[in-house]
Order: sequence, then C-alpha cells, then structure tokens
Amino acid sequence: MFSELVDVKENNIISIDYEILSILLKDHTTKKNIIWATNMYERYGSSYSFKSQITIEQITGRNGQVIRPRIKKSKKEQEQRIKKKAEVFTPSWICNIQNNLADNSWFQKENVFNKPDGVKWITNRNKILFPEGRSWVDYVKSLRLEISCGEAPYLVSRYDTVTGNSIPVINRIGLLDRKIRIVSENTRSKDDWIKYVKEAYKSIYGYEWQGDSLLIARENLLYTYIDYYVDKFNEKPQIDTIKEIAEIISWNIFQMDGLKYVIPNSCKNETIINYTLFGEEKETFECIGCQTNNYHNHNGIYVKIMNWETNRANKFINVLGRRK
Ligand SMILES: C[S@@+](CC[C@H](N)C(=O)[O-])C[C@H]1O[C@@H](n2cnc3c(N)ncnc32)[C@H](O)[C@@H]1O
Repeated sequence: MFSELVDVKENNIISIDYEILSILLKDHTTKKNIIWATNMYERYGSSYSFKSQITIEQITGRNGQVIRPRIKKSKKEQEQRIKKKAEVFTPSWICNIQNNLADNSWFQKENVFNKPDGVKWITNRNKILFPEGRSWVDYVKSLRLEISCGEAPYLVSRYDTVTGNSIPVINRIGLLDRKIRIVSENTRSKDDWIKYVKEAYKSIYGYEWQGDSLLIARENLLYTYIDYYVDKFNEKPQIDTIKEIAEIISWNIFQMDGLKYVIPNSCKNETIINYTLFGEEKETFECIGCQTNNYHNHNGIYVKIMNWETNRANKFINVLGRRK
C-alpha cells in the first residue's frame, strides 16, 4: 500500500480508497475537478480537452498509465512541454541549495539541515536546534510557497525530478520534508505528531498551470505523509487521517495561471449588442485585464485559497495585496 517511490499509480490509490483520489482531484475555486489545462491528452478523446475536468475514470483507465511524472514521459513529449510551458524541472541538489538559503535566513545560521557537497549533500543527523526566541512550532507554522510548482520538487523530494532516483526519508530536502522532520524530532505521541504535521501541511502552498503535474504534486505531498508516518511509527497511517491530509493538500496545491491569478484560460471575450436604427451591431471585446495586463481586471475565475487561521477562503490576488 502506498509504496511506489516515483510513478504513483492512481489505480493503487482507488484500490485502497476511492475517496482519496476524488479529494486529490478537487478544485475548491470552481467546486469541480481540476482541469487538464493542456492539449497533450486530446489524443485520448474530446473529454481530455484543455478545459475538461480530470476524472477518476480517465486516469485509472488504460492501465493507469495516463498520468506519468515528467521523468517517465517520452523525450518527444518532454520537448513539447518545454516549448509550450517552459517545463524544465530543477534537480534536487539545486532545490536543496535554495531551500538552505531560506533556512539560513530563518535560523540565522548556515546549513542547518545539511551541507551541500557538489551535486549531493551531507545530512545533519543530529537533532535540529532552534535560535533564541524561535521555537520548533514557529518553524513548522512559517508559510512557504512554491510558485509554478510542477511536481513540487522544492516542497517534497521523494525522488529527484531530473534523474528519477528515489531519495530516502532521512536525506530529503523539501521545505515540507524539513518541517515534518522537525515534528518527528519534537513529538512522541501519534496524536501530537499528526496535529503538528497537519499544521505543516497547512503552511505549505504551491500553484501550477498544468493539471497532470498538479495532480502529481498533490500525490507527492500525500505519499510524503505516509513515508514519514511509517518512518516514525513503523506502521501504516489510518485512512481517515490520510483523507484529512489529502483535503488540506487539495486546497494548498492549486491550479492557477500565476501571471493572472485566475484558473488557466478562464478569461473570455465579451460581446455587446448595440441596437441601432439599422439593426443590431455586435461588438466583441477581449477581457480588459488581458488587454491592459492589469491583474485586477480579469473576467476569468479568480482562484481562492484557504486561510487556515480563520478557516475562510480568500482570493489569492487579495492575499497578495493590491498592486498594478
Ligand atoms: C520551469 S518549470 C518549474 C517547475 C518546478 N518549480 C521546478 O523547479 O522543478 C515551470 C512550471 O511552470 C508551469 N507554468 C508555466 N506557466 C505558468 C503560469 N502562467 N502559471 C502557473 N504555472 C505556469 C509549467 O507548467 C511548469 O510546470
């Protein structure tokens, strides 16, 4: 159960619990499923078009081979995705160096979790100590966002998205990996561990345009939970808790055009009919936000994210604050 390290099989998820996969496909903005947002699956039929929702039936049919991580896609497909959406993933050793920079600043100390060593790193196996005035809970709750997250290699690192090599739990370098490690080092009971790991998931955000990569990112975050639970307690976690984690992930790892803050390609042309002496005249306008490049004037669907402190959803653009 939940043992695949690189290519998560959607069929395996539904054989354990159908609802988990349906939660991972949710879009909380549209209250439907996430959409494909790419034309690359249209060869399977019209229901796989750009604006179609991704369904469980689609991704569990064809032996569950429809959605594969970039490393398992054909070279031709990889090249098309580079051209269309600049899809080039960052190797784990670079994610690690950049994540270390964020932590150097938070801890006011260098290389707290590991020491980079060329294209590898040497993990610090001692318990992580915290600077004066900052606690491990502060670290777990501090907010992080991976923009255009692809398969989310800055957040979790079950495998290197470039080489496809799996990475053992102790050597993981993602921003969420680090937080879960901290929870494992500072809690004993299952209840406490689960409580703070949920806080860690609530503090991690990521958005992505393409639906397939987004689902893979969500799966990677979910399997990360299971990996760390097994590592800590030497048994599998409860299905109900897995569903609660999946629900948080489905809010925090979301589908968005990061240049417009709306659901990809949801802006539309608008037609106005003018009634004149000579009959009807139709005028069609492009979305004003798209025309003028102003984030605030799109007529597409602005994406909502959850504020877990207030338990209220808010538009992502409002969280950013007003700017032109
Ligand atoms: C260069 S990859 C980086 C992925 C990942 N963050 C990494 O470092 O490996 C860029 C990703 O941005 C996504 N992307 C491209 N344009 C986007 C947009 N306007 N909004 C959100 N995501 C976008 C692509 O689908 C792709 O997954």
